[in-house]
Amino acid sequence: MDEQLINSTISYIKALFSGNADGHDADHSLRVYKNAVTIASNYPECDLLLVSLASLLHDVDDHKLFQTKNNSNAREYMKGQDIPSETIEQIVTIINSVSFSKNRGKTPETIEAKIVQDADRLDAMGAIGVARTFAYGGKKGRSLEDSVQHFHDKLLLLRDTLNTDEARELADKRHSFMEQFLEELGEESQCTYLD
Ligand code: NI
Repeated sequence: MDEQLINSTISYIKALFSGNADGHDADHSLRVYKNAVTIASNYPECDLLLVSLASLLHDVDDHKLFQTKNNSNAREYMKGQDIPSETIEQIVTIINSVSFSKNRGKTPETIEAKIVQDADRLDAMGAIGVARTFAYGGKKGRSLEDSVQHFHDKLLLLRDTLNTDEARELADKRHSFMEQFLEELGEESQCTYLD
């Protein structure tokens, strides 16, 4: 695989997300990339370059952070790297199948998209999922209670949406950790001065 292209993509996202501390940052994208490569190692038929670039670039047009239209950050970056337009379209299609809110109930068609979607969802679970939820909630001025609601509305549902067996295996531990965390938080939060 093109190591130089991967390295320059990593530099691009580091620069793009610099100063962002709300859980949608370069570190998140790098963890998603790592998860994706781990899952992909079980699928020799998948195109690792598509998986790698789509996972690294999956949040560069996230509407929570950027006002871009039609994946313009991802497209412009890839054009600048002389990636063929057909490949750019394939990668954009994968990126657009990642979002939980935009793809409710829809299963991605390609193995590459299934892998990247799973890789992103894994990073919303477990200890890292807990940390990211409160980092994002803090930025949005949400109460702890509202952030806890996010676990019930989304994070605890993720395990059952995963596409690949490998991701489901990795997700089990993360899912139980979130349940444990919520239980502990509930116990510690009981306070007669509140309500
Ligand atoms: Ni993401």
